[in-house]
Amino acid sequence: MQANALRASKMRGYAGVIAKEVEDWIEDWSDEGEIDVVDELQALLLRTSTHCLMGTDFRNKLTEEFGSLYHDLESAVSADAILDPYAAGEAFEKRDRARAPAGNRDGGDRRAPCGGGAVGGDGQYFDMLDTFMNAEYVDGSKLPDEQIPGMVVWIMFGGFHTSSNTAAWTLVELARNEEFVGDIVSEVNAIYGGTRDLEYASLREIPLLERFVVEVLHLHPPLCTLMRQVMQEFEYKGNTIPVGDTVLISPFVSHRVPEYFPDPERFDPTRVPSDNVFAYIPFSGGARKCVGNAFALLQLKSIFCALLSRYDFEIVGEPEAIVDSMPSLILRPSDPCRVKYRRRV
Ligand code: HEM
Repeated sequence: MQANALRASKMRGYAGVIAKEVEDWIEDWSDEGEIDVVDELQALLLRTSTHCLMGTDFRNKLTEEFGSLYHDLESAVSADAILDPYAAGEAFEKRDRARAPAGNRDGGDRRAPCGGGAVGGDGQYFDMLDTFMNAEYVDGSKLPDEQIPGMVVWIMFGGFHTSSNTAAWTLVELARNEEFVGDIVSEVNAIYGGTRDLEYASLREIPLLERFVVEVLHLHPPLCTLMRQVMQEFEYKGNTIPVGDTVLISPFVSHRVPEYFPDPERFDPTRVPSDNVFAYIPFSGGARKCVGNAFALLQLKSIFCALLSRYDFEIVGEPEAIVDSMPSLILRPSDPCRVKYRRRV
């Protein structure tokens, strides 16, 4: 069901919605100024994610209440919660209180015949909530009302911080790796410059920008602890791994193995990809691989076409002082993380 909501053919519909959000966001920027990178991109990605996930009506009513409820849901996402999601504690109580009204609101208001989603340029846009409300199991039964908000919140968790922190790191690396920026700007201008049609541009291939994002995800994979519970005993390098154990792989560690990534800490978007499919795993792999890969890339292309065609960026303070930080389960740039922007004449 979730893969259906995020399959490549749905991207055309989401592209128009994302482009409109990005254009509205950048409209308020002046000729020069300074932003907090993480905060600014989180605010934008919250709007693009909720608009695509829950539709225009919901997005237009995006209130501080939603922001605060979502914060309470998120605050309970911790390593402790993975080990015991039903433990007592204030964060978990707040999470359960936050989820209750979300359940009523989404299941209640939107189960009826749904005209909810915005319609994109090609008339095809339906929000993801719509997809879940119409989804069927193989026996033809529908998802129960109380499970639909859970699916929406889950997709939101999967997609929001991963994408906003990747966008934040992309902006930081663009600002401190000037030598690659000129060619990317020329590429973006060739695709987006003439038409100024952000929806169209974000659906095109933009190879140099895409390679740059690949390298951002090489050094800064936002999900760096992927865990699995062992269902069947197995041997690994002479050790028996018993049923019930938790095993963990880390893209952050895999991406720093010199055998596959020579000089692994160097930021190098011209890096030749390893032919080992298990070496580069920012989206994981196998059956549980990320289903939001295309959606994430669409958002990043939209954001950076809009930004790079207009502005130059410079880190405020010492560029190398910004390092990976992991205050919760998701990797992000450390604080302070500010950039100056200046409109190109
Ligand atoms: C740069 C952005 C993103 C990165 C790096 C990323 C990374 C990942 C990774 C590593 C996993 C696997 C987790 C595991 O194996 O335990 C995953 C799963 C998932 N991601 Fe993403 N993700 C991104 C964006 C998104 C977006 C935008 C969405 C949705 C809108 C999304 C939805 C999901 C979902 C639903 C799963 C679970 C798939 C399943 O278990 O079947 N992700 N993601």
